Amino acid sequence: MARDKTVYTCSACGGTNAKWLGKCPHCGEWNTLEESVAEPAAGSGTRNRFQVIARALPVATLSEIEAAEVERQPTGLPELDRALGGGIVEGGVTLIGGDPGIGKSTLLLQAAERLAQHIKVLYVTGEESGAQVALRARRLGLGHAPVRVLAEIQLERILAAIETEQPKFCVIDSIQTLFSDQLTSAPGSVAQVRECAAQLTRAAKASGTAIVLVGHVTKEGALAGPRVLEHIVDTVLYFEGDTHSSFRLVRAIKNRFGAINEIGVFAMTERGLKGVSNPSAIFLSTHGAPVPGTCVLVTLEGTRPLLVEIQALVDSGGVSPRRLSVGLDRDRLAMLLAVLHRHAGVACMDQDVFVNAVGGVRISEPAADLAVLLAIQSSLRGKPLPRGFLAFGEVGLAGEVRPAPRGQDRLREAAKLGFAVAVVPKANAPKAADARAFEGLTIHPVERIEQAIEVVRGL
Ligand code: TYD
Ligand code: MG
Repeated sequence: MARDKTVYTCSACGGTNAKWLGKCPHCGEWNTLEESVAEPAAGSGTRNRFQVIARALPVATLSEIEAAEVERQPTGLPELDRALGGGIVEGGVTLIGGDPGIGKSTLLLQAAERLAQHIKVLYVTGEESGAQVALRARRLGLGHAPVRVLAEIQLERILAAIETEQPKFCVIDSIQTLFSDQLTSAPGSVAQVRECAAQLTRAAKASGTAIVLVGHVTKEGALAGPRVLEHIVDTVLYFEGDTHSSFRLVRAIKNRFGAINEIGVFAMTERGLKGVSNPSAIFLSTHGAPVPGTCVLVTLEGTRPLLVEIQALVDSGGVSPRRLSVGLDRDRLAMLLAVLHRHAGVACMDQDVFVNAVGGVRISEPAADLAVLLAIQSSLRGKPLPRGFLAFGEVGLAGEVRPAPRGQDRLREAAKLGFAVAVVPKANAPKAADARAFEGLTIHPVERIEQAIEVVRGL
């Protein structure tokens, strides 16, 4: 019966077929047919319907449109609010993705408890039973929160519950466990995940409920993971961090209601996640004396500079040496090694190169380049960089060192934390007049990678 309502749509050409086929009969692509809900038959009224819509909605000039700033309800967790751009928005749909066990359920339960003191909150759990959620809440000391809990995985029943409960904030934990009756594919499949998210988004817009969808990132990343939902939802947050360390970052990578790339920092404790309001120095490991192969980078996440230690290990490799990076882009590492060889004459061709950003942070900005190269060079030489050393700056293919955005803010943070020596792009070096703001920090401006290597050799 359900079968009549589904069609298989080709993701390449958009052609549809009643049955699943390995090869699209329209465009000949392989493995592109995905199950989707069939559109209701357009019938004869299609054309008229569009005409009616066109007449009903007049076009307005931008300046005429009344647009009040969206109202936000702070979650009561300042670090989460920071990533969200101030709080949850009525009718807004947020996707929070992350590896299993990173702390998504914990964070949302804490947020639910705080929000429940002001507004009606519904927590839909598909992964754990109601009892498990209650137990966790008790462990976190949140047992008395007036949070309504529903253990359910069938989408239609969840939508009905939202309709009757009328919550202002609703958590769906997780989107991958839900299934809609209208599709035959299994929960967690791309078709189900997409359909359930689309229906919940519609419900959020219609009822004004702010919905948070939890999504697990699979090892492979893309497939059936939260990525297929990024375009449907208003806000996308990613929860990252090393499960072996206690620090967690919540990063906004899309926000229709605010700025992105703002991060919230948490520490996982016995009593749940605690916000870290002054996180600049948590990603530094503590060495008694300086060790070879490490270089501190000042990276800028949103509005806050963070100091992160980059570690490199260069060791003699086999016939095909390995390049491995954790928290940094591997292709970029290969490129940087080529630049280092060609422009600074430092060769790692027969060496294994491993690079790691301490504390499980993921660094995507190219301003990390200089620190990565200096860490590699330090490991290769077996000589540590001096105590209190830091670097940042993008390195181009021509060997030039390009400025990083807001370099002065980065330097100010480093000076505040007592760093002593910095190698930075020339354009980021402070003018003589501003030098007093960086007291105690000796700044070496460089324009090229070979110059940076030269400076470091002389330290
Ligand atoms: P959880 O929120 O269940 O992760 P997710 O929903 O992202 O899969 O977090 C589970 C981990 O957090 C688990 O390994 C135990 C740890 N944890 C704490 O360290 N302290 C706590 O107070 C709680 C509730 C969990
Ligand atoms: Mg969970």
